[in-house]
Amino acid sequence: MTDLRHRFPGLGDGWARFDGPAGTQVVDTAIEATSSWQRSGNNANSHGPFAAAEACDELVSRARSTMGELLGADGDGIMFGPSTTANVFSITRAIARDLGPGDEIVCTRIDHDSNISPWLLAAADTGATVRLVDFDVETGRLPTESVAAALTENTRWVAVTGASNAIGTMPDVAAITAAAKAAGAMVMVDGVHLTPHARVDVGAIGCDVYSTSSYKWYGPHAGITWLDPGLLADLVPYKVRPADDDGPDRLQLGTPSFESIAGLDAAARFLLDEGMEAIASYERRVFERLLAGLVEMPNVRVLGPHDCIDRAPTLAFRVDGMAPSATARALAAAEIAVWDGDYYAMELMASYGLADGAVRAGITRYIVDEDIDRLLTAVAAL
Ligand SMILES: Cc1ncc(COP(=O)(O)O)c(C=O)c1O
Repeated sequence: MTDLRHRFPGLGDGWARFDGPAGTQVVDTAIEATSSWQRSGNNANSHGPFAAAEACDELVSRARSTMGELLGADGDGIMFGPSTTANVFSITRAIARDLGPGDEIVCTRIDHDSNISPWLLAAADTGATVRLVDFDVETGRLPTESVAAALTENTRWVAVTGASNAIGTMPDVAAITAAAKAAGAMVMVDGVHLTPHARVDVGAIGCDVYSTSSYKWYGPHAGITWLDPGLLADLVPYKVRPADDDGPDRLQLGTPSFESIAGLDAAARFLLDEGMEAIASYERRVFERLLAGLVEMPNVRVLGPHDCIDRAPTLAFRVDGMAPSATARALAAAEIAVWDGDYYAMELMASYGLADGAVRAGITRYIVDEDIDRLLTAVAAL
């Protein structure tokens, strides 16, 4: 498999970067697209009568179509915002206008908090109720039946992740969506951790909203959210009066970051050119050694699935008798970058009863076998 490390100038020499789930290094073409946009003179605003303004419209339209291609979705339903969290808040605020007492929302404890708190707050404002579905802490899996069992005739929305940013589990979002639809509910999928690690087909999932963030897949910091056209037409967003009255723009809250849109378009093109199947199979090969190596260590506990089926190449672990923060600091001293804590998957860590969380290591397309050797050797020496 081709070594692509030369495509990531931020990698440099020295550090082994297992911090990808918190934010990846940026691919050369995305760096170039961002800066060449800013050099181009086209940095203007949308819907204007002169060439630079038209270039802004063309950029947004091209990025929508690239994102549509990446996600298997209609690009016309794509909004660009500063982050997935910001996009989800914008959308749930609009959804909340139509929620009231008796309405139910189903969230899960395997999710990142950006797909839980916005719903809790919408429920608190409207009198709706949130049901939080447990995952199986032994296997690290979220059975479709557990979500289905929480559905009632009052369920309006189901909010579920495509992949856990802590333990890698990929719930069967297509099956969960089918169950939700059968109960008359709509579905929001958090695709932030799924998108960099699998080929996504939003049409096949069948959900109503799907979000991803380009800084998790070699691009700049931005949130990209697809909305089903029917939902988009129905939503009445909180927005300023002169802003567009239809389309995804009205959920964007102000002028988008055109330079980020230029960069994310290039990063999405990188994923498409490399091919998501090829990226996933590379990552899986590298990840298998890391998972097996850590699982074999008697003083290490790996949370979540111990196999490579339906999972992202991301794991969380603890070394016996050592606080995760101390482990992360010891690894940093060896120039190995990992996170510790809950990475905002706070319900998940609470489910494990781990107040100080765990150490997280994630594989991306630029992690190589030597990085795995270094991490395994360093953990074994702790
Ligand atoms: C699974 C998952 N969902 C949502 C988010 C939030 O993304 P953003 O920082 O773009 O709001 C993250 C960020 O870590 C994540 O990993």
